[in-house]
Amino acid sequence: MIEQQHWHPVASACDLGAAPLAAHLLGQPLVLWRDDAGRAHAFADRCPHRGARLSLGRVEGGRLECPYHGWQFEGGGRCMHVPALPQFQPPAGHRVGAFGVREAHGLVWVRLAPEPAAGDAAADLPLPTFPAEDDARLRKLNCGPYDVAASAPRIIENFLDMSHFGFVHEGWLGARGAAAIDAYEVEPTPTGLRATGCKAWQPQSNLHSTAAAQVEYTYEVTGPYAAVLTKLPEAGTTAVEGWRESIALYICPLTPETSRVWFRLAVADFDSPDEKLRAFQHTIFTQDQPVLESQVPKCLPLDLRAELHTAADKASSAYRRHLKTSGITFGVC
Ligand code: FES
Ligand code: CO
Repeated sequence: MIEQQHWHPVASACDLGAAPLAAHLLGQPLVLWRDDAGRAHAFADRCPHRGARLSLGRVEGGRLECPYHGWQFEGGGRCMHVPALPQFQPPAGHRVGAFGVREAHGLVWVRLAPEPAAGDAAADLPLPTFPAEDDARLRKLNCGPYDVAASAPRIIENFLDMSHFGFVHEGWLGARGAAAIDAYEVEPTPTGLRATGCKAWQPQSNLHSTAAAQVEYTYEVTGPYAAVLTKLPEAGTTAVEGWRESIALYICPLTPETSRVWFRLAVADFDSPDEKLRAFQHTIFTQDQPVLESQVPKCLPLDLRAELHTAADKASSAYRRHLKTSGITFGVC
């Protein structure tokens, strides 16, 4: 599966402390843990001795210890100690599957494919980018995770979709009387697509809105299950001077039909408490969630004949085409 070569978020970095943490990615149970230097590791959550769940174990002396017979594994996955045979030197083949791990955007990211050979650029895919991450004028915080009974591609597509604003987010991001979508531009990019010139009329576009506003959106698909939007309301409609925001959507595909979802918010607001900023995003996403969970089929159909499309769906049609040409199979049908 090509999706195994991509990096996916599996946990909030702050949730991975001294104890091992169970996670799931692309149908694979994982155990995450930190060694004594604080470095995160991700293994298959199954002990190669008798199949117990390593996530029920603990970290001892910088190694992950199985809960059943106490075998200890170092960060690379190799078994270093078998308590029932203290003199035994486990051979190199006594190991558990270890996966690539990165920490970025407040999340732990895992790639299931083996580390590519040096110089194999095609297999060495970068993490999804988030240009706002390095912008010191924007404050960053995460919202989530949300466990959602929908496929990751359905959730990305909903994020790119403006024509639901007046119905799902009525009174917030849209109004049923102002649901028309002006033409906008979509261009393909190596990671998916970019949509620009998207406009929406929004009664309450953000936490600090003082008036309904025309809001300009741009969207970018940054990975098979990752996307970023930026939104800019017209001047004078927000209590915070110079308000702008960028939101990244990061999805962990747990199974083809279930997902764990985070939003990374980047906002020009250093004063509001975290809870208040999260509450706005929470309100919006919990409006989307029941609709997302109702969609049938749960996997996103890549055959464009399977559902009906209009010009207003240009971005989502381009996303479907991109998934098809890049060979994505998880969460699509
Ligand atoms: Fe893990 Fe025996 S099952 S040590
Ligand atoms: Co929505």
